[in-house]
Amino acid sequence: MQKLHHNFGVKIPAIPDLSSLQSLIREHRAVVIEHAQFDEIADFQNWLNQVGNVSAGGNSTHADPAQAYGKQYDRAIKVVQHDPGLPNGGMYYLDTQGTGYWHQDGVNYNRGHECYTALYSVTTPAAGGDTCVSDLVSAWNDLSDAYKNMLRPLKTVNGNRAFRIWNEAYFKRYPERFANELAAFEKQRPLVTVDDHGRESLNISPKNVIGIAGMHIEESNGIVEFLCRHVSRLEYQYRHHWQPNQVFFFSDESMIHYAVRDYYDLPRELWSCKIDLSDK
Ligand SMILES: [Fe+2]
Repeated sequence: MQKLHHNFGVKIPAIPDLSSLQSLIREHRAVVIEHAQFDEIADFQNWLNQVGNVSAGGNSTHADPAQAYGKQYDRAIKVVQHDPGLPNGGMYYLDTQGTGYWHQDGVNYNRGHECYTALYSVTTPAAGGDTCVSDLVSAWNDLSDAYKNMLRPLKTVNGNRAFRIWNEAYFKRYPERFANELAAFEKQRPLVTVDDHGRESLNISPKNVIGIAGMHIEESNGIVEFLCRHVSRLEYQYRHHWQPNQVFFFSDESMIHYAVRDYYDLPRELWSCKIDLSDK
């Protein structure tokens, strides 16, 4: 068993039995499995349903498959990026609908500590297309006691939208999705959480956080700016370079993630699901 990072994550050579896998996921919060093999997306989903409960609506922000960044299959998503339609030299990272920005998924509803993203690699580019995670527990642990005490009672205000990503071309191409994102209520969430192991963690999604509840924007801007910079430092990250037939689980609550859009037009296909281990 190989470590992914000093503070979290392990890589294992094959799919273990279910209870070992559940323990590994809970303890290490990120698990890479090599030499997995699923022929159909339904096979992947059925196996995941034994590991945990595959949540309904793998990704609720993409309710309309035609507008999703990937095609939706029941409760799994086939992640294949669109041709961005940008001129040569155009910014491919804009073609991520917010996945190419540090974020947690589903900030508009509480998933809880036991929720994880599960990805399976079908086709991987020769270079690029990595998936990065950054650990909010490590980022929290490095803060001073004085700063932690200030943060503990705070709540963040969040928008369920890729508000830094939308540009004119996207407004035109996905008018309905843009309207839905604008219509979603802003959501308040605790800035600091404690999981069932007693581990404290920051709980912040740089893509979504707007401010701190109850503060003037002048007061909260400095805190939000520092925290977004702090949680995206290289020291807290694991960057997964994909090989085909790998599964990557990572925590949805105690980690932020980032899909690097640097593979241009090379083919890349991942299958994505959300699982909940809470009653397993
Ligand atoms: Fe995501």
